[in-house]
Order: sequence, then C-alpha cells, then structure tokens
Amino acid sequence: MTQDELKKAVARAAFERIQKHLDDDDSVIGVGTGSTANMFIDLLGEAAHRVNATVASSEETKRRLEAHNIPVFDLNSVDEVSVYIDGADEANDYLQLIKGGGAALTREKIIAAVAREFICIADASKFVKVLGEFPLPVEVIPMARSHVGREIVKLGGDPVYREGVVTDNGNIIIDIYNMSITDPRQLESDLNQIVGLVTNGLFAQRPADLLLLGRESGVEELKAR
Ligand code: 5RP
Repeated sequence: MTQDELKKAVARAAFERIQKHLDDDDSVIGVGTGSTANMFIDLLGEAAHRVNATVASSEETKRRLEAHNIPVFDLNSVDEVSVYIDGADEANDYLQLIKGGGAALTREKIIAAVAREFICIADASKFVKVLGEFPLPVEVIPMARSHVGREIVKLGGDPVYREGVVTDNGNIIIDIYNMSITDPRQLESDLNQIVGLVTNGLFAQRPADLLLLGRESGVEELKAR
C-alpha cells in the first residue's frame, strides 16, 4: 500500500468512529490540518448535511471545510469540542506527538486542549520509539527570532528558521533539529518558558487519546496509557 492509501484508511477509520457525532445538534467536531486531515475532511464532506458544527485548526482547513458546505465556527462561539481529528509528524506509544509540519501547531494545540476526545490519524511511518527524528517546530513572534534561537541552542537543539513561512497568526516557524526527546513533557515545559516562543509542537502534556495507525496489515488502534 502507498503512504496515501494508508492515510486514506486511517481517515476512513476516524470517520467511522465519529458517526455518533453526526445528526447531533450538540456535537462540535475539531478538524486538523495536513494531508491526512484533508482526507478526513473529504469524507466528512460526503456527510456535510449531517454535520452540526466544526472548528478548524487553520485557514486552509476552514477553506476546505467550507468548500464542502460544512459549517465552520469560531472556537469562541462553541461551548466545547466533542472530538478532534488530526494528523501528526511523529507519535510514540504514549500517544505523545510532534506536530506543526504544516505550521498550524498553535491552533491545533488550542483545539486539542479544548477537545473532550483527541483522535490522531497517521500512517505507520510516523510511529517512533523516541520523538525527535522529525525536526520539532516552534511558532515564534518575529522580533524574538534570534533570542528564541539562542535559547534553543542552550537546550541542546539546532534551530533552523523556516524560510518564507508565515503562520495564520502572523508569526514565523523555527524547526529544532538534532533533539533526542527522551522527556517530552519536560521539554514541552522548558520550551514554554522561552519568551517570544508562542507554541511548541510537542503534544506531550495533552497527548492524543486514541491513535489510529495505518499499517499494511490494517488500522491499528492504540489507546493512551
Ligand atoms: C500540521 C500538522 C500535521 O498534522 C502534520 O504535519 C502531519 O501532516 P500530514 O498528514 O500531511 O502528514 O501538524 O501543522
């Protein structure tokens, strides 16, 4: 199977899992960003008339949802998010994640924080023993770029400015290379202390609740320990 076929399989598995949220006036579905999330959106589009409300983790996701005539709301106008579906750049077996490859990490982390249930969908290439092979993205206020870079070096990482990328919030992205992340929760806290760093792409303190992992043998379901 190709990587795209594996992504499609997990998107479909997620769509099947959220059936109880269709035709439900109280349900709000959080929708992530990226190619795997896009496959989920396209499936949701087939049931657009049954979707009460969604919140989007990026402008791109909002546009795609609206193109399917799926109602998108501002997060501030909904009471809660019933379930959040999103991809990941890496996941470990505690369902801790690296996210932000698509530069949408801040809005993604906000929705994950609010969501009652967070279902991560990924092909098996994203599953790792130790997080950090994929460069860890952080969103940064533009004027703090050099300061944040120096602080990242103190923590042992190699910061690389992602050229030409401006986030939906008007900020920049720095990718942290060569960071073997043995204590994701601690590193998430340490990065959060850096002034000018808006959000880091470690989802360790609020990991996923369920990981649907696309393997050649089928979709594996991993629950948070
Ligand atoms: C966007 C993300 C995505 O979930 C992550 O980059 C995975 O993307 P894809 O599904 O295209 O592999 O965090 O900020």
